[in-house]
Amino acid sequence: MSNNLQDKYVEIVNLVKAYPNPFGEDIRVVDGFDLRIKQGEMIGILGHSGCGKSTVLTMVAGLNAISGGNVIVAGKEIDGAGPDRSVVFQSPCLFPWMTALGNVMLGVKRVYPHASKKERKELAEYYLNQVGLADAMHKYPREMSGGMQQRVGIARAIALKPKMLLLDEPFGRLDSLTRMELQDVIIDILNENKVTTLLVTHDVDEAIYMCDRIVTMTNGPHARVGRINEMPFERPRIRQEVLDHPEYYNIRGSLIQYLEDLEHEKEKQGQEKPPVEEETFNDQDDLPKTPKDKTEKSELVFML
Ligand SMILES: Nc1ncnc2c1ncn2[C@@H]1O[C@H](COP(=O)(O)OP(=O)(O)OP(=O)(O)O)[C@@H](O)[C@H]1O
Ligand SMILES: [Mg+2]
Repeated sequence: MSNNLQDKYVEIVNLVKAYPNPFGEDIRVVDGFDLRIKQGEMIGILGHSGCGKSTVLTMVAGLNAISGGNVIVAGKEIDGAGPDRSVVFQSPCLFPWMTALGNVMLGVKRVYPHASKKERKELAEYYLNQVGLADAMHKYPREMSGGMQQRVGIARAIALKPKMLLLDEPFGRLDSLTRMELQDVIIDILNENKVTTLLVTHDVDEAIYMCDRIVTMTNGPHARVGRINEMPFERPRIRQEVLDHPEYYNIRGSLIQYLEDLEHEKEKQGQEKPPVEEETFNDQDDLPKTPKDKTEKSELVFML
């Protein structure tokens, strides 16, 4: 593969997502998100709640229609979802009637339709072993903790041998110890498999520990790439070494400061906007009195 393609393995070009607001007007939630990702690179996305992180991730996954711009993976423009991009969300959505092994085999079957059952089983076992579930392969989701279920979700995603791994707050529902364990599971797997990865997280420390570059998104609407921060830590990473690195607290402080500045900007924008008329309800009916509904209601009253 040429160096050029390796350096621009994933190209997110001027990505736009517009959603209709309650008045039927299209609002560009994401507007011109632009990023190039190297092959095997791990990118973290940080930004305020509601700025559009998941919107970008689901568009790259092909699960959310793109309103403008495009996404090119390994030189090919994406057209919908595909096994070349696997996704892990906060909850893994496992099939409850299948064991851990069955759930992972399902994905393997999709990518290797011509493999024998024995080969598929061996592959699924290999990935379950990698996420530390060698002893729990035959358990059903109801018999597993949240952390174990998330491990199955990760094994299923990796077993697809994706070109890209898309993680949307994958540890968001887990306690901090399990969270750290799973961060290391992912880091180890990625060291071995070199999968290009996008990680959406709210956790600054998680992003610093796991990622090669951290992208902060500006406030929505019209969110886009804000600042790109290169991490100076060597790989393979050792948590204590990263924490002891002379740059660690500067990087952490600067990221938190940037996010706080965005928060202040958001508050200021909120104050500058004309006051929004609140939805109120009365005893006679429960029609909301938003400006549009008020007109409709007055029309109703007139008709009566
Ligand atoms: N289907 C939809 N229809 C209309 N608006 C939507 C839809 N999905 C998301 N939005 C809006 O798009 C914006 C971005 O949402 P998104 O879920 O991408 O944010 P986020 O950064 O992932 O937030 P969080 O950190 O809370 O997960 C929000 O204002 C949200 O209300
Ligand atoms: Mg989100």
